[in-house]
Amino acid sequence: MPHAERPKTIVTRKLPDHVEARMTELFDVEFNAGDVPMTADQLKDAVARAEVFVPTVTDDITADILASAGPQLKLLANFGVGVDHIDLAAARAHDILVTNTPGVLTEDTADMVMALIISVPRRLAEGEKLVRAGEWQGWGPTGMLGHRVNGKRLGIVGMGRIGQAVARRARGFGIQVDYHNRRRLPEAVEQTLEANWRENLDDMLADIDILSINCPYTPDTHHLLNEKRLGLLGKDVYVINAARGEIIDEEALTDALEQGAIAGAGLDVYENEPHIGERLLALDNVVLLPHLGSATFEGREAMGDKVIANIRIWADGHRPPDQVLEGWA
Ligand code: DGY
Repeated sequence: MPHAERPKTIVTRKLPDHVEARMTELFDVEFNAGDVPMTADQLKDAVARAEVFVPTVTDDITADILASAGPQLKLLANFGVGVDHIDLAAARAHDILVTNTPGVLTEDTADMVMALIISVPRRLAEGEKLVRAGEWQGWGPTGMLGHRVNGKRLGIVGMGRIGQAVARRARGFGIQVDYHNRRRLPEAVEQTLEANWRENLDDMLADIDILSINCPYTPDTHHLLNEKRLGLLGKDVYVINAARGEIIDEEALTDALEQGAIAGAGLDVYENEPHIGERLLALDNVVLLPHLGSATFEGREAMGDKVIANIRIWADGHRPPDQVLEGWA
């Protein structure tokens, strides 16, 4: 059954101009022109009024927020691929469909992972700071040496779209690829990626030079990389995370970095964004980025297009293509 022709749609953050313009043509839409993240009370007010609600990763859509949802709220069309900020069980209990935007930010995010894989061992951020501080004394045979990535072994945790895109890039840099995933990839895919499945995560951690976290954040992956697992990594290992901060115990990671128990880290995500701990900020052997993985004009427009397509198809009475299926978490 078709839904309202121009559904009442509330968007929580500023979206790219092209996306907002198209949404205005299609829906009865309210935007957040100031782009200040909504408070819990504002989120409650929005879900009480909207038929379609468009949140993003900075909105915590808890059961408490969804308890305020009006009976007319039928679709939560998330702007982003991760849905860990949404209580999916509560959405289901209120009969609200949830969609996301998979596929269109894969390559951009994998590029960012690869940039971190190179930046940390080769000390790019430190070098840049040195030059800008006017402290560079010129080239020297032993100046600012880092570590070669070619020939190293990368362990990827989570071999979905982004993990596989990271593997393709890593092979291009002459890096060996191991991966740990709940399900083993088909043999043909493994062969194409030249990736070696490691059933046991702990065994993989003991064998690698670089670790890249690329799995979703779920209750099962909370602090997957905890103090014990960090202890399995060698002191020359670099840890890269562009997935979700909560997958790593950030305090334990900071301890390991401070103590030289691992070589360095490249982080695009944090446990309590946008807060980053003082101890982490003080370290030289880390590259810290402000959650930039999908931050390209092209990617964000494509994410917006997906949000629009999901709403349109749902409004026409069909199942939206990017419905987040039960059991995702
Ligand atoms: C996502 O889509 O989940 C990213 O983390 C935000 O772009």
